[in-house]
Amino acid sequence: MKKNKLLKVLTFIGTGMLSMSMLAGCAGNSTPQAGNNNTASEQPKAPADGGKYIVMGTNAEFEPFEYREGSEIVGFDVEIAKAIAAKAGKELKIEDMEFGTLIVGLNNNQMDFIAAGMSVTEERKTQVDFSNPYFTSKQVIIVKADDGSIQTADDLVGKKVGVQLGTTGDLFVSGTDGVEVLQFDKAPLAVMELKNGKVDAVVIDAEPAKRLVEGQDDIKVLDAPFTEEEYAIAVRKGDKELLDLINSVIEELKQNGEYDKIFEKFFDVEE
Ligand code: ARG
Repeated sequence: MKKNKLLKVLTFIGTGMLSMSMLAGCAGNSTPQAGNNNTASEQPKAPADGGKYIVMGTNAEFEPFEYREGSEIVGFDVEIAKAIAAKAGKELKIEDMEFGTLIVGLNNNQMDFIAAGMSVTEERKTQVDFSNPYFTSKQVIIVKADDGSIQTADDLVGKKVGVQLGTTGDLFVSGTDGVEVLQFDKAPLAVMELKNGKVDAVVIDAEPAKRLVEGQDDIKVLDAPFTEEEYAIAVRKGDKELLDLINSVIEELKQNGEYDKIFEKFFDVEE
């Protein structure tokens, strides 16, 4: 029963709410920053139609997929993007911006592709073309360790819930009646507000959730029954050449064992 209801709500994700969130994202304070990346500093932005660089757009607040280590942006998605750049015979440049502005940025030629732990949704599919999926994930709920009142997604009704603006977690709670949603530019900020008692829960992707609660006894991740989501890389609609290249890279990485190596580098494989 409960599961069915959730499934319905999740199917609803990607109908309309996204564009609203994205508009909100655009109207916000976000000035896309020049990618502080793995290449030399202050390089001119690569034209999207080719040149020395291939540009990945991301939001580097999503460990282990993309995050900052010092001034460098690293992570699972960055490794895949490096393989894409190598195959394309270009240098990788990274544009780090608000998650909610990535699709608009892609369609404004600020980047060649988005690699940002981005889940495939029906609504997004109307705005971009997605590669074959490269990772399966789901949403989870983070609550205070001593909170017994929230066990499942249905318990979020009547609660204050923090999310990262424009994410599927945002779409889920914003599409659920009776939930007071607080949208943050960065998921770590939502978790801070949970610790401060300003929100009751945070809805976010499973792997980043694990990282965010690691080593902290005052918050915990609930294993609530959300449906699965699949991460894929996005290109502009009709950019078939790049899409084919990306799909062939994903396939090759899986075939030649590189995918597993990248996985082991960023995930706990013992458990
Ligand atoms: N998977 C979720 C979505 O597609 C969240 C992705 C957030 N990614 C990020 N790099 N901050 O909406």
